[in-house]
Amino acid sequence: MPTIIINLGQESARKHIEEMVRLDPLLEIREWPDIGNPEDIDIAMVWQMPHGELAKFPNLKMIVSMAAGVDHVFLDPLRPKGIPIVRVTNPHMARSMGHWFLMNILRLHRETVYFDALREEKIWPPEIAFDTDSVSVGILGLGYLGTHVAQMLKAVGLKVQGWSRTEKNIDGIQSFSGEFGLDQMLVDTNFLACLLPNTQATKGILNFRVFNKMPQGSYVLNAGRGSQLVELDLLQALDNGQIRGAALDVFETEPLPTNHPFWTDKRILLTPHHAAEVYLPAVVKTFLDNIYRSRNNEPLIGLVDEELGY
Ligand code: NAP
Ligand code: GLV
Repeated sequence: MPTIIINLGQESARKHIEEMVRLDPLLEIREWPDIGNPEDIDIAMVWQMPHGELAKFPNLKMIVSMAAGVDHVFLDPLRPKGIPIVRVTNPHMARSMGHWFLMNILRLHRETVYFDALREEKIWPPEIAFDTDSVSVGILGLGYLGTHVAQMLKAVGLKVQGWSRTEKNIDGIQSFSGEFGLDQMLVDTNFLACLLPNTQATKGILNFRVFNKMPQGSYVLNAGRGSQLVELDLLQALDNGQIRGAALDVFETEPLPTNHPFWTDKRILLTPHHAAEVYLPAVVKTFLDNIYRSRNNEPLIGLVDEELGY
């Protein structure tokens, strides 16, 4: 009997299994690490599966990343090659990612940390004006999420441009590609928003060189992956004023170590890898759709390009 294996935290795995079996009582699902006979498993639904585990299933037909990112699968050197990998592409997730960027761009632009500090002292601030027309967002990564985010920010009246591996044609959003295109975008970007996948090509992309191409006093927002930000470069750029503030959802090491300087740095807004909501009833439907497609040899949704690694 073809069987699905799922690895997540216990509570989350239980909720997923309950919902999947509620929708399809005939599904056979095992919760890793109780794998039973590994030969039974045809589909592995994973989030940060310990390296080497996927190699144990000789009859695997599909790997489902229970996230938008697939770096956690590609980083496993023993991962069986040539097996289709699918990932979450879901409008709920895209909408909440848009909310995260909108919320943080406005928090930074409207200086909410400064006003909260004044409030602590019961100080009524001096008159202050905000020039929202000066906000120019540059999005790194115009994929499934980046495109949704760009459109949402555009819809609330912000100036938005974006950079990706291949150029895009998105209404009202100027699109750039290549190294020269990145530099062109950066000179006119004061809110740099990263939504790139974690690959060799994107590692450390948020660095001094990039910060220095932006106007002085710009902001950096990262909800891609922690490996994309050179954390020391950000701290130095904050100290020398090139970067005025940042909003980070992802970090080189997660959970963020308690002695990490980001925790206490008021110039940095932090969220704990929480930018995008995973709405369980919606993602479970897409998981089931792909499970049926895989078993019926039909085209898969959210299929990852093995060569590109995303
Ligand atoms: P996606 O649809 O695969 O889009 C990736 C985008 O990045 C594409 O536009 C791609 O360009 C571009 N890109 C990739 N490599 C590039 C390079 N070397 N140079 C320039 N552009 C490059 O992915 P997605 O669904 O939008 O998700 C993006 C990432 O967001 C995920 O991989 C994950 O790391 C992160 N994420 C974080 C959270 C969170 O809670 N913090 C939640 C979900 C996702 P092309 O279109 O030209 O190929
Ligand atoms: C979360 O980080 C995701 O990749 O979905």
